[in-house]
Amino acid sequence: MKRIAVLTSGGDCSGMNAAIKGVVVECFMNNVEVVAVREGYKGLVNGNCEKIDFKVVEDAVQKGGTFLMTSRYPQFKEEHVFKKALDVIAENRIEGLVVIGGNGSMKGAEKLYKAGVPVVGIPASIDNDIYGTDIALGVDTALNVIIQALDIIRYTASSHGRVFVVETMGRKCGYLAATSALASGADAVLIPEVKFDVDSIIRRLEKEHKTGKTYSIVIVSEGTRATGEVLGKLEDAGFDTRMTVLGHIQRGGSPTVFDRLLAFRFAAKAIKSLLEGKYGYMVGLNRSRTTCTSIEKVVTHKRGIEDKNLLQFAKKKSR
Ligand code: ADP
Ligand code: F6P
Repeated sequence: MKRIAVLTSGGDCSGMNAAIKGVVVECFMNNVEVVAVREGYKGLVNGNCEKIDFKVVEDAVQKGGTFLMTSRYPQFKEEHVFKKALDVIAENRIEGLVVIGGNGSMKGAEKLYKAGVPVVGIPASIDNDIYGTDIALGVDTALNVIIQALDIIRYTASSHGRVFVVETMGRKCGYLAATSALASGADAVLIPEVKFDVDSIIRRLEKEHKTGKTYSIVIVSEGTRATGEVLGKLEDAGFDTRMTVLGHIQRGGSPTVFDRLLAFRFAAKAIKSLLEGKYGYMVGLNRSRTTCTSIEKVVTHKRGIEDKNLLQFAKKKSR
């Protein structure tokens, strides 16, 4: 294999640039050319790609987002659009492809693999909902941003004696909410994986405030779609309430050391896999070791919250 392409797809996250650099470095060391595809699958379909050399990634590691750009491109599911991508791959003599992205991106990668493209995936999504890896790229940085925000919110909440409702990201997964609630000492947390009872949470907070508590922090995962309900019910109960939707700042900016190192490990494993002729896999980190899981398995399995203690904590704080 002498020419490998790399793209980033789906929601951006911290560590994507470090992973791209890792891919370029590993290829350089193995005398393999690198083709950078811009804007994910959209760029692949439109032939938005060019050969890059080492200089392009020299200062990439510390940057947030993805300098290759990314896209949500549902048209990639359509056969006639998908076929254009296969043409571009052939025209550009691409012999292997590294896809850096989340669950949706892995579905696209699986389709390419089934069509004969030698693909390896690198899991990258702040949601941490990708099967086959204990942690995806971007999660650690996102959590650090969330915790920093929650620590700041705690100061203002305590100063005014208020109840703060903080919404964290996670399209269908409560990992960010549950982990940040535990790490920040939040009073309540609502996640899609655990049955919650808003009325019961409010009764508990009322009791706590009657016996000396002066402020509270309630974390709601985006995936519950319950932020409005929680806010409304807290106001009806007479709490001085404020809401903060953390939104896209959770994508993180400059990656943590953990995410940078993880990116390099994932990239090294991905290129090794391609050069050894092991295609159709997603690299991952399991029990601190880099692993390969077939993308077919990745896209047909769900990753829930696997930490039983974390689930137990969420259960306790959800009523
Ligand atoms: P993420 O990869 O972060 O989960 P998305 O769900 O938006 O983000 O997926 C990224 C892209 O992957 C989509 O915009 C689309 O181009 C491609 N994709 C998603 N699902 C499929 C699918 N079933 N078949 C082919 N491509 C898909
Ligand atoms: O999948 C990552 C994620 O950040 C989700 O947590 C969130 O629901 C979604 O992406 C937001 O997507 P967009 O950046 O397209 O608004």
